[in-house]
Amino acid sequence: MDRNLALNLVRVTEAAALESARFLGRGDKNAADQAAVDGMRKMFDTLNIDGTVVIGEGEMDEAPMLYIGERIGKAVEGCPELDIAVDPLDGTNSVAKGLSNSISVVAVGPKGCLLHAPDMYMMKIAVGPKAKGKIDINASVEENLMNVAKALNKDISDITVTILDRPRHKELIESVRKVGARIKLFGDGDVAAAIATCFEHSGVDVLMGIGGAPEGVLAAAALKCMEGELQGKLTPMDDEQRERCKDMGVDVEKVLTLEDLVKGDEILFAATGISDGELLKGVGFYENNMAKTYSVVMRAETGTIRFVEALHKLDKKPEYAK
Ligand code: FBP
Repeated sequence: MDRNLALNLVRVTEAAALESARFLGRGDKNAADQAAVDGMRKMFDTLNIDGTVVIGEGEMDEAPMLYIGERIGKAVEGCPELDIAVDPLDGTNSVAKGLSNSISVVAVGPKGCLLHAPDMYMMKIAVGPKAKGKIDINASVEENLMNVAKALNKDISDITVTILDRPRHKELIESVRKVGARIKLFGDGDVAAAIATCFEHSGVDVLMGIGGAPEGVLAAAALKCMEGELQGKLTPMDDEQRERCKDMGVDVEKVLTLEDLVKGDEILFAATGISDGELLKGVGFYENNMAKTYSVVMRAETGTIRFVEALHKLDKKPEYAK
């Protein structure tokens, strides 16, 4: 895997963020998402890669761009065949409402290494490197949190679990409180929330709960780079979704390990903040048509994590003209 592709991936998420951030607080989540898709797609077209979208905006008949199976990039002789997972905007509602924590994300690996997760829910548990190997998605909340507390050398009352604020998590929330751990609820964006478990300053030790399966693969790519751990289980909600899993040959009872979600080490992950979050600041627009973006890019092979702060002179980039 060409390590210089990492910087190009930052260009891709920056482009999506710059376009989408124009829609912050404007109450139109579809427009915000479309802008992110357009920005990301345009930038992908400039890269010398032979990529296939495996996690994208939906099936071909649902999405005109970045749909599953779409070939992207300017393939030239000898360029690598890649699996590409994208979420041009994770947190569409947050952008529409002007709330925090929305990001643009992309993960890339050699062909065949990213799970083609269907567009449905996934139960997830994620931890940072210190608690790697200590979680089991099939075990009780109590058992998991006791093991994580032990691994982190903390009292269970000092463990913080981050959970998507949804009615479906009522029981989970009760179980976490019963064992005495703290909870940090978040409104949207469980890719960033899973990543937070790998940064001590986030104050978050574990992510638990049900979110999107595609986001599960994206988060797994990041956690692979940071040597954390994420386990998932597909959570089909009806017969149609169960049938879909069967057609794809995915066993819904199977625990999807980090390796099942993202195979091998030749993985790259990049994200850019759209609205302010704990991991990344959002896009800032300044005088004289300048903008600033904050991104992170990681490589699993070396474990390097780079934070990239970029100043964009939009006058010189006509594609971003308002
Ligand atoms: P979108 O940007 O597609 O709305 O996703 C935001 C998100 O919070 C994801 O991060 C999360 O995995 C998913 O929604 C959870 O789904 P739901 O909003 O249906 O609970």
